[in-house]
Amino acid sequence: MTPDALVASLREIVGETHCLTDPALCASYETDWTRRFHGEALAVARPGSTDEVARVLVACADAGIGVVPQGGNTGLVGGSVPRGGEVVLSLLRLNEIEEVDRVAGEVTVGAGATLAAVQAAARGAGWEVGVDLGARDSATIGGMVATNAGGVNVVRHGAMRSQLIGFEAVRVDGTVLRRLPGMPKDNTGYDLGELLAGSEGTLAVITRIRLRLVPPLRHRAVCVIGLADAHAAVAAASELRRTLGSVMALELFTDAGLELITRHTAARAPFAGRTPVYLLVEVASDDDDPTDGLLAAVDAIGVGEGSAAVATDAAGRHRLWQMRERHTEVINAEGVPHKLDVSVPAARYAELVERSPQVVAAVDPDARTIVYGHVGDGNLHVNVLGPEPDDHRTDDAVLELVLELGGSVSAEHGIGVAKVAWLVRDRGTETVAAMRAIKAAWDPAGILNPGVLFDA
Ligand code: FAD
Ligand code: MLT
Ligand code: ZN
Repeated sequence: MTPDALVASLREIVGETHCLTDPALCASYETDWTRRFHGEALAVARPGSTDEVARVLVACADAGIGVVPQGGNTGLVGGSVPRGGEVVLSLLRLNEIEEVDRVAGEVTVGAGATLAAVQAAARGAGWEVGVDLGARDSATIGGMVATNAGGVNVVRHGAMRSQLIGFEAVRVDGTVLRRLPGMPKDNTGYDLGELLAGSEGTLAVITRIRLRLVPPLRHRAVCVIGLADAHAAVAAASELRRTLGSVMALELFTDAGLELITRHTAARAPFAGRTPVYLLVEVASDDDDPTDGLLAAVDAIGVGEGSAAVATDAAGRHRLWQMRERHTEVINAEGVPHKLDVSVPAARYAELVERSPQVVAAVDPDARTIVYGHVGDGNLHVNVLGPEPDDHRTDDAVLELVLELGGSVSAEHGIGVAKVAWLVRDRGTETVAAMRAIKAAWDPAGILNPGVLFDA
Protein backbone atom coordinates (compact mmCIF):
# COMPACT_ATOMS: atom_id res chain seq x y z
CA MET A 1 0.00 0.00 0.00
CA THR A 2 1.38 3.44 -0.90
CA PRO A 3 1.41 6.26 1.70
CA ASP A 4 -1.40 8.00 -0.21
CA ALA A 5 -3.49 4.82 -0.21
CA LEU A 6 -2.84 4.46 3.53
CA VAL A 7 -4.12 7.99 4.18
CA ALA A 8 -7.25 7.22 2.15
CA SER A 9 -7.78 4.09 4.19
CA LEU A 10 -7.26 5.99 7.49
CA ARG A 11 -9.90 8.52 6.39
CA GLU A 12 -12.30 5.68 5.85
CA ILE A 13 -11.56 4.13 9.26
CA VAL A 14 -11.62 7.20 11.54
CA GLY A 15 -13.66 9.57 9.39
CA GLU A 16 -12.58 12.55 7.28
CA THR A 17 -12.47 15.02 10.19
CA HIS A 18 -10.33 12.76 12.36
CA CYS A 19 -7.59 12.09 9.82
CA LEU A 20 -5.43 15.21 9.69
CA THR A 21 -2.90 15.99 6.97
CA ASP A 22 -3.09 19.80 6.84
CA PRO A 23 0.30 20.99 8.23
CA ALA A 24 -1.39 23.67 10.35
CA LEU A 25 -3.66 21.10 11.99
CA CYS A 26 -0.87 18.53 12.44
CA ALA A 27 1.61 21.02 13.95
CA SER A 28 0.71 20.59 17.62
CA TYR A 29 1.04 16.78 17.28
CA GLU A 30 4.49 17.06 15.69
CA THR A 31 6.49 19.01 18.29
CA ASP A 32 7.03 17.93 21.87
CA TRP A 33 6.37 19.97 25.02
CA THR A 34 9.99 21.17 25.27
CA ARG A 35 10.25 22.03 21.52
CA ARG A 36 13.47 19.99 21.41
CA PHE A 37 11.93 17.14 19.39
CA HIS A 38 10.04 17.54 16.12
CA GLY A 39 9.17 15.48 13.06
CA GLU A 40 6.59 15.58 10.30
CA ALA A 41 3.78 13.04 10.33
CA LEU A 42 2.32 11.38 7.25
CA ALA A 43 -1.03 11.93 8.97
CA VAL A 44 -2.59 12.23 12.40
CA ALA A 45 -5.31 9.63 13.01
CA ARG A 46 -7.73 10.17 15.87
CA PRO A 47 -9.72 6.95 16.35
CA GLY A 48 -12.89 7.01 18.42
CA SER A 49 -12.98 3.37 19.54
CA THR A 50 -10.80 0.34 20.26
CA ASP A 51 -12.02 -1.20 17.02
CA GLU A 52 -10.86 1.85 15.05
CA VAL A 53 -7.46 1.68 16.79
CA ALA A 54 -7.18 -1.96 15.68
CA ARG A 55 -8.09 -1.13 12.09
CA VAL A 56 -5.61 1.79 11.98
CA LEU A 57 -2.82 -0.48 13.23
CA VAL A 58 -3.60 -3.18 10.66
CA ALA A 59 -3.65 -0.62 7.84
CA CYS A 60 -0.32 0.92 8.94
CA ALA A 61 1.27 -2.52 9.30
CA ASP A 62 0.05 -3.47 5.80
CA ALA A 63 1.62 -0.30 4.45
CA GLY A 64 4.82 -0.79 6.46
CA ILE A 65 4.42 2.70 7.94
CA GLY A 66 5.41 3.39 11.56
CA VAL A 67 2.88 4.44 14.20
CA VAL A 68 3.58 6.90 17.01
CA PRO A 69 0.97 6.54 19.77
CA GLN A 70 0.26 9.88 21.41
CA GLY A 71 -1.74 10.94 24.47
CA GLY A 72 -1.39 14.43 25.89
CA ASN A 73 2.04 14.98 24.25
CA THR A 74 3.54 16.05 27.57
CA GLY A 75 6.29 13.40 27.43
CA LEU A 76 9.78 14.82 27.89
CA VAL A 77 11.99 12.35 25.98
CA GLY A 78 10.73 12.82 22.40
CA GLY A 79 8.80 9.52 22.25
CA SER A 80 5.41 11.05 21.52
CA VAL A 81 6.22 12.92 18.30
CA PRO A 82 7.11 11.56 14.87
CA ARG A 83 10.66 11.18 13.69
CA GLY A 84 9.49 11.71 10.07
CA GLY A 85 6.80 10.06 7.95
CA GLU A 86 4.97 8.02 10.62
CA VAL A 87 1.28 8.11 11.43
CA VAL A 88 0.57 9.78 14.78
CA LEU A 89 -2.15 7.80 16.52
CA SER A 90 -3.82 10.22 18.93
CA LEU A 91 -5.76 8.51 21.71
CA LEU A 92 -7.41 11.70 22.98
CA ARG A 93 -10.89 10.72 21.80
CA LEU A 94 -10.82 7.58 23.96
CA ASN A 95 -11.55 9.66 27.03
CA GLU A 96 -14.52 7.88 28.57
CA ILE A 97 -14.46 7.56 32.37
CA GLU A 98 -16.72 4.78 33.58
CA GLU A 99 -18.60 4.97 36.86
CA VAL A 100 -16.23 4.54 39.81
CA ASP A 101 -16.52 1.12 41.44
CA ARG A 102 -17.04 2.45 44.99
CA VAL A 103 -16.91 -0.99 46.55
CA ALA A 104 -13.57 -2.01 45.07
CA GLY A 105 -12.16 1.54 44.89
CA GLU A 106 -11.32 1.14 41.22
CA VAL A 107 -12.20 2.89 37.97
CA THR A 108 -11.94 1.96 34.30
CA VAL A 109 -11.01 4.82 31.98
CA GLY A 110 -10.20 5.34 28.32
CA ALA A 111 -6.50 5.78 27.55
CA GLY A 112 -7.14 9.38 26.46
CA ALA A 113 -8.75 10.53 29.72
CA THR A 114 -6.60 13.18 31.38
CA LEU A 115 -5.27 12.67 34.88
CA ALA A 116 -7.18 15.76 36.09
CA ALA A 117 -10.48 14.41 34.74
CA VAL A 118 -9.91 11.04 36.41
CA GLN A 119 -8.88 12.74 39.68
CA ALA A 120 -12.15 14.71 39.61
CA ALA A 121 -14.20 11.58 38.96
CA ALA A 122 -12.43 9.66 41.73
CA ARG A 123 -12.91 12.51 44.22
CA GLY A 124 -16.59 12.72 43.30
CA ALA A 125 -16.93 9.11 44.42
CA GLY A 126 -14.93 9.55 47.64
CA TRP A 127 -11.64 8.13 46.36
CA GLU A 128 -8.31 9.53 45.05
CA VAL A 129 -5.85 8.63 42.29
CA GLY A 130 -2.52 7.50 43.77
CA VAL A 131 -0.34 9.35 41.25
CA ASP A 132 -0.16 13.11 40.79
CA LEU A 133 2.02 15.29 38.56
CA GLY A 134 2.23 18.84 37.27
CA ALA A 135 1.02 17.98 33.75
CA ARG A 136 -2.28 16.64 35.17
CA ASP A 137 -4.51 18.78 32.92
CA SER A 138 -3.01 17.33 29.71
CA ALA A 139 -1.25 14.06 30.52
CA THR A 140 -3.45 11.05 29.75
CA ILE A 141 -3.80 7.85 31.73
CA GLY A 142 -2.68 5.85 28.67
CA GLY A 143 0.46 7.96 28.31
CA MET A 144 1.12 7.74 32.03
CA VAL A 145 0.94 3.94 31.96
CA ALA A 146 3.04 3.81 28.78
CA THR A 147 5.77 5.85 30.52
CA ASN A 148 5.18 4.40 34.02
CA ALA A 149 4.94 8.01 35.19
CA GLY A 150 6.09 8.79 38.71
CA GLY A 151 5.27 12.26 39.99
CA VAL A 152 5.15 13.68 43.48
CA ASN A 153 3.49 10.92 45.52
CA VAL A 154 5.69 7.92 44.70
CA VAL A 155 7.04 7.91 48.29
CA ARG A 156 3.50 7.11 49.45
CA HIS A 157 1.72 5.25 46.65
CA GLY A 158 4.33 4.13 44.10
CA ALA A 159 4.46 4.97 40.38
CA MET A 160 1.82 4.35 37.71
CA ARG A 161 2.57 0.63 37.42
CA SER A 162 1.45 0.21 41.03
CA GLN A 163 -1.96 1.75 40.27
CA LEU A 164 -2.63 -0.54 37.29
CA ILE A 165 -5.10 -3.30 37.96
CA GLY A 166 -6.48 -4.03 34.51
CA PHE A 167 -5.94 -3.04 30.91
CA GLU A 168 -7.07 -3.26 27.32
CA ALA A 169 -4.52 -2.90 24.53
CA VAL A 170 -4.32 -3.50 20.81
CA ARG A 171 -1.43 -5.35 19.23
CA VAL A 172 -0.01 -4.32 15.87
CA ASP A 173 -1.91 -7.13 14.10
CA GLY A 174 -5.19 -5.77 15.46
CA THR A 175 -5.58 -8.37 18.22
CA VAL A 176 -7.24 -6.90 21.33
CA LEU A 177 -5.85 -7.99 24.71
CA ARG A 178 -8.25 -7.37 27.57
CA ARG A 179 -8.16 -8.07 31.30
CA LEU A 180 -10.98 -5.93 32.72
CA PRO A 181 -12.03 -5.67 35.47
CA GLY A 182 -8.80 -6.39 37.25
CA MET A 183 -8.40 -8.22 40.51
CA PRO A 184 -5.84 -7.42 43.22
CA LYS A 185 -4.81 -11.09 43.14
CA ASP A 186 -4.45 -12.56 39.68
CA ASN A 187 -1.55 -14.98 39.18
CA THR A 188 -2.53 -16.34 35.80
CA GLY A 189 0.71 -16.35 33.90
CA TYR A 190 2.62 -13.36 32.56
CA ASP A 191 1.31 -9.98 33.69
CA LEU A 192 1.03 -8.29 30.31
CA GLY A 193 -0.35 -5.06 31.80
CA GLU A 194 2.80 -4.69 33.87
CA LEU A 195 4.85 -5.32 30.76
CA LEU A 196 3.06 -2.50 28.95
CA ALA A 197 3.76 -0.12 31.85
CA GLY A 198 6.92 1.66 30.75
CA SER A 199 6.88 0.17 27.23
CA GLU A 200 6.56 3.68 25.73
CA GLY A 201 4.25 2.69 22.89
CA THR A 202 6.67 0.11 21.46
CA LEU A 203 4.69 -3.07 22.16
CA ALA A 204 0.97 -2.29 21.86
CA VAL A 205 -1.46 0.61 21.97
CA ILE A 206 -3.19 0.94 25.34
CA THR A 207 -6.90 1.72 24.91
CA ARG A 208 -8.38 1.26 28.39
CA ILE A 209 -7.01 1.11 31.92
CA ARG A 210 -8.49 0.00 35.22
CA LEU A 211 -6.91 1.93 38.08
CA ARG A 212 -6.70 1.03 41.74
CA LEU A 213 -7.73 4.13 43.73
CA VAL A 214 -6.50 5.18 47.17
CA PRO A 215 -8.47 6.49 50.17
CA PRO A 216 -8.74 10.29 50.46
CA LEU A 217 -6.79 11.90 53.31
CA ARG A 218 -8.58 14.82 54.97
CA HIS A 219 -5.76 16.56 56.84
CA ARG A 220 -2.83 17.94 54.91
CA ALA A 221 0.10 20.25 55.54
CA VAL A 222 2.94 21.48 53.35
CA CYS A 223 6.22 22.87 54.60
CA VAL A 224 9.13 24.42 52.68
CA ILE A 225 12.43 24.43 54.54
CA GLY A 226 15.52 26.41 53.52
CA LEU A 227 18.79 24.51 53.89
CA ALA A 228 22.50 25.12 53.41
CA ASP A 229 23.13 22.40 50.85
CA ALA A 230 21.91 19.19 49.24
CA HIS A 231 23.54 17.03 51.93
CA ALA A 232 21.35 18.72 54.55
CA ALA A 233 18.29 18.24 52.30
CA VAL A 234 18.93 14.51 51.85
CA ALA A 235 19.50 14.04 55.59
CA ALA A 236 16.32 16.00 56.41
CA ALA A 237 14.25 14.08 53.83
CA SER A 238 15.47 10.77 55.26
CA GLU A 239 14.70 11.83 58.83
CA LEU A 240 11.21 13.06 57.92
CA ARG A 241 10.47 9.79 56.14
CA ARG A 242 11.72 7.80 59.13
CA THR A 243 9.86 9.75 61.81
CA LEU A 244 6.58 10.64 60.08
CA GLY A 245 4.26 7.96 58.77
CA SER A 246 2.27 10.62 56.93
CA VAL A 247 4.76 11.76 54.26
CA MET A 248 3.15 12.26 50.83
CA ALA A 249 5.93 14.11 48.99
CA LEU A 250 9.57 15.07 49.50
CA GLU A 251 10.79 17.50 46.86
CA LEU A 252 13.99 19.48 46.35
CA PHE A 253 14.73 22.69 44.48
CA THR A 254 17.48 25.29 44.56
CA ASP A 255 17.67 29.05 44.73
CA ALA A 256 18.46 29.24 40.98
CA GLY A 257 15.08 27.62 40.27
CA LEU A 258 13.27 29.77 42.80
CA GLU A 259 14.75 32.87 41.17
CA LEU A 260 13.19 31.78 37.84
CA ILE A 261 9.83 31.11 39.51
CA THR A 262 9.69 34.58 41.05
CA ARG A 263 10.82 36.20 37.78
CA HIS A 264 8.40 34.40 35.44
CA THR A 265 5.34 33.98 37.66
CA ALA A 266 3.43 35.97 40.26
CA ALA A 267 4.57 33.54 42.97
CA ARG A 268 6.58 34.94 45.89
CA ALA A 269 9.45 33.21 47.72
CA PRO A 270 8.27 31.08 50.68
CA PHE A 271 10.03 33.28 53.26
CA ALA A 272 12.10 36.47 53.30
CA GLY A 273 15.55 34.91 53.53
CA ARG A 274 17.10 32.94 50.68
CA THR A 275 19.04 29.69 51.07
CA PRO A 276 20.96 27.59 48.51
CA VAL A 277 18.58 24.60 48.69
CA TYR A 278 14.91 24.09 49.62
CA LEU A 279 13.07 20.96 50.73
CA LEU A 280 9.30 20.76 50.30
CA VAL A 281 7.51 18.17 52.39
CA GLU A 282 3.80 17.35 52.27
CA VAL A 283 2.13 15.22 54.94
CA ALA A 284 -1.41 13.85 54.92
CA SER A 285 -3.51 11.65 57.12
CA ASP A 286 -7.14 10.87 57.71
CA ASP A 287 -7.52 10.42 61.46
CA ASP A 288 -5.29 12.98 63.14
CA ASP A 289 -4.05 16.30 61.84
CA PRO A 290 -0.37 15.61 60.99
CA THR A 291 0.65 19.30 61.26
CA ASP A 292 1.92 19.19 64.85
CA GLY A 293 4.00 16.12 64.11
CA LEU A 294 5.42 17.83 61.02
CA LEU A 295 6.32 20.98 62.95
CA ALA A 296 8.01 18.95 65.69
CA ALA A 297 9.97 16.94 63.12
CA VAL A 298 11.07 20.10 61.29
CA ASP A 299 12.10 21.62 64.62
CA ALA A 300 14.15 18.55 65.44
CA ILE A 301 16.00 18.88 62.13
CA GLY A 302 17.24 22.28 63.32
CA VAL A 303 16.10 24.67 60.58
CA GLY A 304 17.52 28.22 60.80
CA GLU A 305 15.44 31.14 62.10
CA GLY A 306 12.93 32.31 59.47
CA SER A 307 13.81 29.48 57.07
CA ALA A 308 10.56 27.53 57.07
CA ALA A 309 7.06 28.21 55.79
CA VAL A 310 4.08 26.02 56.63
CA ALA A 311 0.57 25.96 55.16
CA THR A 312 -2.41 23.83 56.08
CA ASP A 313 -5.21 25.52 54.11
CA ALA A 314 -5.67 24.63 50.43
CA ALA A 315 -4.66 28.07 49.10
CA GLY A 316 -1.51 28.19 51.22
CA ARG A 317 -0.50 24.66 50.26
CA HIS A 318 -1.06 25.49 46.61
CA ARG A 319 1.11 28.61 46.97
CA LEU A 320 3.99 26.58 48.37
CA TRP A 321 3.62 23.84 45.75
CA GLN A 322 3.96 26.48 43.00
CA MET A 323 7.63 26.92 43.99
CA ARG A 324 8.33 23.36 42.97
CA GLU A 325 5.68 22.49 40.40
CA ARG A 326 6.25 25.44 38.08
CA HIS A 327 9.93 24.70 37.45
CA THR A 328 9.16 22.87 34.18
CA GLU A 329 7.23 25.82 32.80
CA VAL A 330 9.67 28.58 33.81
CA ILE A 331 12.63 26.65 32.43
CA ASN A 332 10.77 26.32 29.12
CA ALA A 333 10.25 30.08 29.22
CA GLU A 334 14.05 30.55 29.33
CA GLY A 335 14.81 28.39 26.29
CA VAL A 336 14.70 24.85 24.88
CA PRO A 337 15.98 22.68 27.72
CA HIS A 338 17.89 19.42 27.68
CA LYS A 339 16.01 17.48 30.33
CA LEU A 340 17.87 14.72 32.13
CA ASP A 341 15.60 12.79 34.45
CA VAL A 342 17.80 10.47 36.48
CA SER A 343 17.98 8.67 39.81
CA VAL A 344 20.81 7.57 42.06
CA PRO A 345 21.01 5.74 45.41
CA ALA A 346 20.07 8.09 48.26
CA ALA A 347 23.64 8.14 49.56
CA ARG A 348 24.87 9.65 46.25
CA TYR A 349 22.02 12.15 45.67
CA ALA A 350 23.72 15.20 47.19
CA GLU A 351 26.86 14.48 45.19
CA LEU A 352 24.77 14.38 42.01
CA VAL A 353 23.17 17.73 42.86
CA GLU A 354 26.58 19.28 43.38
CA ARG A 355 28.52 17.65 40.56
CA SER A 356 26.01 17.81 37.70
CA PRO A 357 26.46 21.60 37.14
CA GLN A 358 30.23 21.02 37.29
CA VAL A 359 30.31 18.29 34.63
CA VAL A 360 28.03 20.39 32.40
CA ALA A 361 30.29 23.45 32.80
CA ALA A 362 33.34 21.34 31.97
CA VAL A 363 32.02 20.59 28.46
CA ASP A 364 30.02 23.80 27.89
CA PRO A 365 31.03 26.72 30.13
CA ASP A 366 28.15 28.86 28.79
CA ALA A 367 25.42 26.32 29.65
CA ARG A 368 23.14 26.91 32.65
CA THR A 369 22.15 23.97 34.86
CA ILE A 370 19.07 24.00 37.04
CA VAL A 371 18.25 21.00 39.21
CA TYR A 372 15.17 19.98 41.14
CA GLY A 373 13.42 16.73 41.79
CA HIS A 374 11.77 14.11 43.91
CA VAL A 375 14.46 13.71 46.57
CA GLY A 376 12.37 11.14 48.44
CA ASP A 377 12.76 8.81 45.42
CA GLY A 378 16.41 9.63 44.68
CA ASN A 379 15.12 11.24 41.46
CA LEU A 380 16.79 14.43 40.20
CA HIS A 381 15.80 16.47 37.14
CA VAL A 382 18.93 18.02 35.65
CA ASN A 383 17.89 20.74 33.19
CA VAL A 384 20.49 22.26 30.91
CA LEU A 385 19.84 25.49 29.03
CA GLY A 386 22.08 26.75 26.26
CA PRO A 387 23.24 23.85 24.06
CA GLU A 388 21.56 23.38 20.66
CA PRO A 389 18.85 20.69 20.67
CA ASP A 390 21.04 18.13 18.86
CA ASP A 391 24.23 18.87 20.82
CA HIS A 392 24.51 15.86 23.15
CA ARG A 393 27.73 16.72 24.95
CA THR A 394 26.14 18.00 28.16
CA ASP A 395 23.56 15.17 28.19
CA ASP A 396 26.39 12.67 27.90
CA ALA A 397 28.40 14.32 30.67
CA VAL A 398 25.46 14.17 33.12
CA LEU A 399 24.48 10.59 32.21
CA GLU A 400 28.12 9.45 32.51
CA LEU A 401 28.16 10.93 36.02
CA VAL A 402 24.90 9.16 36.89
CA LEU A 403 26.35 5.79 35.89
CA GLU A 404 29.51 6.53 37.86
CA LEU A 405 27.28 7.12 40.91
CA GLY A 406 25.49 3.80 40.37
CA GLY A 407 22.24 5.37 39.15
CA SER A 408 19.67 5.03 36.38
CA VAL A 409 19.66 7.19 33.22
CA SER A 410 15.85 7.38 33.38
CA ALA A 411 13.92 7.60 36.64
CA GLU A 412 10.39 8.39 35.47
CA HIS A 413 10.26 10.01 32.00
CA GLY A 414 11.49 6.99 30.02
CA ILE A 415 14.11 6.48 27.32
CA GLY A 416 12.12 7.87 24.35
CA VAL A 417 14.43 8.86 21.52
CA ALA A 418 16.51 11.08 23.81
CA LYS A 419 18.40 8.32 25.62
CA VAL A 420 18.46 5.40 23.18
CA ALA A 421 22.24 5.47 23.10
CA TRP A 422 22.31 5.11 26.89
CA LEU A 423 19.99 2.12 27.32
CA VAL A 424 22.74 -0.46 26.73
CA ARG A 425 25.19 1.50 28.87
CA ASP A 426 22.69 1.44 31.73
CA ARG A 427 21.10 -2.02 31.46
CA GLY A 428 23.83 -4.03 29.70
CA THR A 429 23.77 -5.98 26.43
CA GLU A 430 22.13 -9.13 27.83
CA THR A 431 19.17 -7.25 29.32
CA VAL A 432 18.70 -5.13 26.22
CA ALA A 433 18.86 -8.28 24.06
CA ALA A 434 16.05 -9.74 26.22
CA MET A 435 14.06 -6.53 25.73
CA ARG A 436 14.64 -6.69 21.98
CA ALA A 437 13.39 -10.29 21.95
CA ILE A 438 10.13 -9.11 23.52
CA LYS A 439 9.88 -6.30 20.99
CA ALA A 440 10.51 -8.74 18.12
CA ALA A 441 7.78 -11.09 19.39
CA TRP A 442 5.18 -8.34 19.78
CA ASP A 443 6.07 -6.14 16.82
CA PRO A 444 8.29 -8.08 14.39
CA ALA A 445 8.17 -5.46 11.63
CA GLY A 446 9.00 -2.58 14.00
CA ILE A 447 5.83 -0.60 13.27
CA LEU A 448 5.17 0.66 16.81
CA ASN A 449 7.12 3.76 17.79
CA PRO A 450 10.24 3.05 15.70
CA GLY A 451 13.33 4.71 17.15
CA VAL A 452 12.00 4.69 20.72
CA LEU A 453 13.94 2.57 23.27
CA PHE A 454 16.06 1.03 20.48
CA ASP A 455 17.55 2.31 17.21
CA ALA A 456 14.96 1.97 14.44
P1 FAD B 1 2.58 11.37 25.60
O1 FAD B 1 3.57 12.44 25.85
O2 FAD B 1 1.60 11.63 24.54
O3 FAD B 1 3.35 10.01 25.26
C1 FAD B 1 4.40 9.56 26.09
C2 FAD B 1 4.86 8.17 25.61
O4 FAD B 1 3.81 7.22 25.79
C3 FAD B 1 5.20 8.11 24.13
O5 FAD B 1 6.24 7.18 23.94
C4 FAD B 1 3.92 7.60 23.48
O6 FAD B 1 4.16 6.95 22.27
C5 FAD B 1 3.40 6.66 24.55
N1 FAD B 1 1.93 6.58 24.61
C6 FAD B 1 1.06 7.59 24.87
N2 FAD B 1 -0.19 7.11 24.93
C7 FAD B 1 -0.12 5.78 24.68
C8 FAD B 1 -1.08 4.73 24.59
N3 FAD B 1 -2.38 4.95 24.80
N4 FAD B 1 -0.65 3.47 24.31
C9 FAD B 1 0.68 3.22 24.11
N5 FAD B 1 1.62 4.18 24.18
C10 FAD B 1 1.24 5.44 24.47
N6 FAD B 1 6.40 12.74 34.31
C11 FAD B 1 6.59 12.07 35.47
O7 FAD B 1 6.83 10.86 35.44
N7 FAD B 1 6.52 12.72 36.67
C12 FAD B 1 6.26 14.05 36.76
O8 FAD B 1 6.24 14.61 37.85
C13 FAD B 1 6.01 14.76 35.56
N8 FAD B 1 5.70 16.07 35.60
C14 FAD B 1 5.52 16.75 34.43
C15 FAD B 1 5.21 18.10 34.49
C16 FAD B 1 5.06 18.82 33.32
C17 FAD B 1 4.70 20.28 33.40
C18 FAD B 1 5.22 18.17 32.06
C19 FAD B 1 5.04 18.92 30.78
C20 FAD B 1 5.51 16.83 32.00
C21 FAD B 1 5.67 16.11 33.18
N9 FAD B 1 5.96 14.74 33.16
C22 FAD B 1 6.13 14.06 34.33
C23 FAD B 1 6.12 14.03 31.88
C24 FAD B 1 4.78 13.55 31.27
O9 FAD B 1 3.69 14.26 31.76
C25 FAD B 1 4.58 12.06 31.54
O10 FAD B 1 5.59 11.33 30.87
C26 FAD B 1 3.21 11.52 31.09
O11 FAD B 1 3.10 10.20 31.54
C27 FAD B 1 2.98 11.59 29.60
O12 FAD B 1 1.60 11.41 29.34
P2 FAD B 1 1.00 11.86 27.93
O13 FAD B 1 -0.41 11.44 27.85
O14 FAD B 1 1.26 13.29 27.69
O15 FAD B 1 1.85 10.96 26.94
C1 MLT C 1 8.75 17.38 37.47
O1 MLT C 1 9.01 16.66 38.42
O2 MLT C 1 8.55 18.59 37.59
C2 MLT C 1 8.57 16.73 36.15
O3 MLT C 1 9.08 15.45 36.08
C3 MLT C 1 8.86 17.56 34.95
C4 MLT C 1 10.27 18.03 34.78
O4 MLT C 1 11.20 17.23 34.90
O5 MLT C 1 10.45 19.20 34.48
ZN1 ZN D 1 9.46 14.66 38.03
